[in-house]
Amino acid sequence: MQNNTGSMILGTGVSIPPKVLTNGDLEKIVDTSDEWIQTRTGMQVRHIVDDKLNNSDLASEAAQNALQAAGVAAEEIDTIVVATVTGDVTFPSTACYVQDKIGAINAAAFDIQAACSGFIFGLGIADSFINTGQGKKILVIGSEVLTRIVDWKDRSTCVLFGDAAGAAVIGPSNGDGRGILATFMKTDGRLTELLCMPGGGSKFPAEVALRENLNNIKMEGPEVFKAAVRAMGDAAMHIMEKAGISAEDIDLMIPHQANKRIIDATARRMKLPAEKVYVNLQDYGNTSAASIPVALDEAKDKGLLKEGDVCVMVAFGGGFTWGSAAIRI
Ligand code: UT7
Repeated sequence: MQNNTGSMILGTGVSIPPKVLTNGDLEKIVDTSDEWIQTRTGMQVRHIVDDKLNNSDLASEAAQNALQAAGVAAEEIDTIVVATVTGDVTFPSTACYVQDKIGAINAAAFDIQAACSGFIFGLGIADSFINTGQGKKILVIGSEVLTRIVDWKDRSTCVLFGDAAGAAVIGPSNGDGRGILATFMKTDGRLTELLCMPGGGSKFPAEVALRENLNNIKMEGPEVFKAAVRAMGDAAMHIMEKAGISAEDIDLMIPHQANKRIIDATARRMKLPAEKVYVNLQDYGNTSAASIPVALDEAKDKGLLKEGDVCVMVAFGGGFTWGSAAIRI
C-alpha cells in the first residue's frame, strides 16, 4: 500500500438546513408515492433551504465548522475552493462570498464546476496545490441549493434533490502515512445534455431561459443511471490501483449519494460488503457536490473511521464527470 502522502484532511464540517421535505410532502406536489421513491432511489427525506438562506451561507457555516474541527484560524487559509453548480450568482464566485463571510482575508478564492464530482475534483486540486507548494491550508467546500433549480412540476427529478454543504480543511501531512493517498478525475463531455441546466448562462440568458423553461435541472434518468454505474465502478477500480490498495484494505467506501441501486452496484463491482459502504441518502437525498463531504463528516462522527483507516470516496455527476479519492485517516 502506498504511504507517501503529501496532504491530509485536518478537519471536516457540515451545514444542513433545518427544514425537511418528506416523500409524503412530495406526494402533495407531484404524482409520486413514498413507495416509488423508496424502492427506486432509497430516499426518504431531504433538507431544503428557506427563502433567507443562500448557498454561501451553507458553505460558510460548513467551512467554519471544518476550521474549528481542524483547529485552524480563518486567516491561515490560503486557498478556498467551492465546488457547486448552484452558486449564489453567476459571478463573482461563491468562494468570494465565503471568504468574506468567514474572514479568510489571506485566501485566494474560486469556484469549480464538476457537478456531483465537485468535492473530489476539489480534493485533487488541494492535494496538488500542497504537493507543489502552491498552498498550505486549503478549504475545499461542496455546497448546493439544488431545490432552487429543480422543476417542481417534473416528478422524475424534483423528488431526488436536497440542499447541504460539507467542507474539509486540507493541510500538509505529517509524514506518518496518513493523508490523501491518491485522487482520480475524469470527464466525458460528449454526454453533457443527459444531465444539465441549459438556461441562465450566457447561451440562454435568464429571460430566454424563463420563456423556454430552461432554467431548471434536465435529466435523462435511465441513461444517467447506466453511465453512473459504469463510471463509479471504473473510478473505484482506478483509485485502488493508483493508491496500491485492494478491497480488503478498504475500511469504508463513501459513494456519491444519488441512488441506492447505483451504490449497491458499485459495491458489488468492488466486492465490498454492505457494512463497508456508507449510505445516508435516505436522510438527505442527492445533494450533488455536498454529498460526499457530508457523508465523510457524518461517518467520522459516528466513529466509523478511526485513525489509520482507509477510506475510498467515489463520485459521478453531470458533464459527465467522475472521480475518486483514497485517504488514510
Ligand atoms: O447525481 C448525479 C447523477 N444522477 C444520478 O446518478 C441519477 C441516475 N438516475 C436514477 O437514479 C434513476 O434513473 C431515477 C431514480 C432518476 C429514475 O429511476 P428509474 O428506475 O430509472 O425510472 P424511469 O425513469 O425508468 O421511470 C420508470 C417509471 C416511468 O413510468 P412508465 O413510463 O414506466 O409508466 C416514470 O414515468 O417511473 C415513472 N416515474 C415516477 N413514478 C412515480 C418517474 N419518476 C417518478 C416518480 N414517482 N417520482
